[in-house]
Order: sequence, then structure tokens, then C-alpha cells
Amino acid sequence: MKRAHAADREPPRTTRAAPRPFASRLIAWQKERGRHDLPWQHTRDAYRVWLSEIMLQQTQVATVIPYYRRFLAAFPDVASLAAAPVERMLELWSGLGYYRRAHLAHRAAKTIVDEHGGAFPRDVAAIAALPGIGRSTAAAIAAFAFGARGAILDGNVKRVLARHAGIAGFPGDTKVERALWQRAESLLPEDDIETYTQALMDLGATVCLRQSPRCDACPVARDCVARRDGRIGALPAPRPKRELPLRAVSVLLLERHNEVLLEKRPAIGVWAGLWSLPELAPDADVVAHCKARFAADVALESPLPAIEHGFTHFRLTLHPQPCAVHTWPRRAEEPGLLWLPLAEVAGAALPAPIKKLLRQRATA
Ligand code: ADE
Repeated sequence: MKRAHAADREPPRTTRAAPRPFASRLIAWQKERGRHDLPWQHTRDAYRVWLSEIMLQQTQVATVIPYYRRFLAAFPDVASLAAAPVERMLELWSGLGYYRRAHLAHRAAKTIVDEHGGAFPRDVAAIAALPGIGRSTAAAIAAFAFGARGAILDGNVKRVLARHAGIAGFPGDTKVERALWQRAESLLPEDDIETYTQALMDLGATVCLRQSPRCDACPVARDCVARRDGRIGALPAPRPKRELPLRAVSVLLLERHNEVLLEKRPAIGVWAGLWSLPELAPDADVVAHCKARFAADVALESPLPAIEHGFTHFRLTLHPQPCAVHTWPRRAEEPGLLWLPLAEVAGAALPAPIKKLLRQRATA
């Protein structure tokens, strides 16, 4: 027989009583089995807590850790971040993806300095009013930085609660989400909110996995509705299927003397504000385009294999087109254009698939 965790051990009794409250079992389990050595733990510095929570939106812990460390070394406090140009921030964010987070976080840092005198707000409503912070992230920051009692509901927690309470339907659906928030609120403990919040995150990340959950290691398995009803694979329900639109673009690798031309992306839209390769429609005449746009003479080389990249709302196929630049007139130099030595690709603020492409090009 498997040894029961202390978290799930019940006092001896004669009649079968209700299990200990959900939160008590989670808190006991977290203390024994949860994660205790993440670099953003053991601090009450709201700036650090905030930064980690923003980076951890949509990104896994193992990916975030080196970025978080580098970021803190460059920007140890909110004032240093607010004073830095957003481009410097994007350089350090490059590769983490979801760059909108970085723009919003930079705006949040400025708001904290300009409107809160440089002190991170303590009030949950004020935290939630900062750019890039939703209800769940605000509650997580308030719990970890200030010990404030509030419910979180990120993607992992939705999965835990949908399964445990047997809440059917796609969690992105307003009605389902409302039911999940109600459940999250109703389960909150009176005390030890930090441990409880971390426990929910840890349970979702290490036990109540999307695929092959480890129910034998779960402190709340005994009253889990999905487990009882054999619906673990069905909960939470997936997003109703909808074909993502497909888009395609050519990306130009305009090359001269081991340098490649970069163009700054507009401040809004995909890869906002990052340096990237010039793009044009896949059927456009590249030589004529370079003549018209840059007054440059270029010669086409063999196209490189296409690259598929998924965004939230569409799929993009990139067709990389290398071009040797024969003449590049002085008047083609303008702000928003940059010749990057291929040797410097690693440190540049580029979208991940473009960086990968240029790295391969640099070593080819
Ligand atoms: N995911 C979101 N916030 C987290 C945190 N503070 N620790 C671990 N994983 C997380």
C-alpha cells in the first residue's frame, strides 16, 4: 500500500467524516512537497514579485529563471526600469515572447514612479489598475508581496479547480470563468494565503498536469469530481475548435559584408517595437521593391526553407529570401533601419524565429 502524505493523513475516527478543508490540505502539502527555491520566492519586494508574475504569464518557470536573473541584474528596482529606454528592456526580454507584456510592464514601471512616488501600490485595486496586470496577477502579487487575501485563477489553477469541482465547459467562456472564480473565492483560507497561493500554482505545475496527472500524489484527490467520474481527460474542456487564419510573408535577408538589414517594427501589432527583417507580400517583386523602397540594387539568392510560426490569432509562414546587396545609396540610411553584423545577432532584440534564422545564417 502507498504511504499517505502527511497532508492527506486523517485523524483516526469511527465514522467516515468529511475530509479536511481543501485549503488546509493544500497548505500542508505545499510545505512538504511544494517548490521552495524559485528565485522570486523568499522576498517581499513587490517589484521582484511583480516582475516574476509578468514573466510567468504564458511562460514556464524553467524558461523564465535566466531572464529574471539577467533582468534584475540590469534593473534592480522599479526606478531603474522606469528610467531605461523601452528598447533596452526589449533587448533583455528578447526570446521570452509575448512582447506586449514587456511594453505594458515598462509603462507600469513609469506609472509606479510617476503616480505612486516610486513605491509599488499595496492596494489590490491599484495593483490591478497598472498596465498588464489582470485580476489573478494582481491577487498573486498582493499575496506574495503583502500577504493580502485574494483568489488567483491562472490557466493552471483553472485546470485544478475545473477538475476538482467538476466544472464543465471551456474556461475561457464567460459563464464557466465566473463559476471558476466563485469556486476560487469560496475555497480561500483565512490565513497563510502566500502558502496557499503557491500551493495552487505548484499543484497545477507539478501534479495536476494537463496530460497524465499524478493523482496518486495529489492532496485533494479523494474528493476530486473529475477523478471520481473518470473525466480527468475531459476537464477542463478545450477551446471550441476554430481554424486559425493563415498568413504568409517574405522576409528579406538583405546582406552586405556579413551584415544584415533590420527594420524596426511598428509600435503596435505583432512583434511591436522589435527589430526584424523587412517584410513584403510573398508574390511581390523583391528586386523592384528594393529599388523603389531603398534605391538599392540587389540580386536574389536561393530562397531558404519556409518557417511556420504560431500566434494566438493566426499562423504565419515566413519565406526567407536572401539577397546580395550590390549598391546601397547613402540616402537609404534612415532611423528605423539598421545594419546588424551577423556576429551580433545573439544580443539583439529580435523575435525568436528571426533570431534563430539569423543565427543559422551566421554559422552557415
Ligand atoms: N506561475 C505563475 N506565478 C508563479 C510563481 N510565483 N511561481 C511559480 N510558478 C508561477
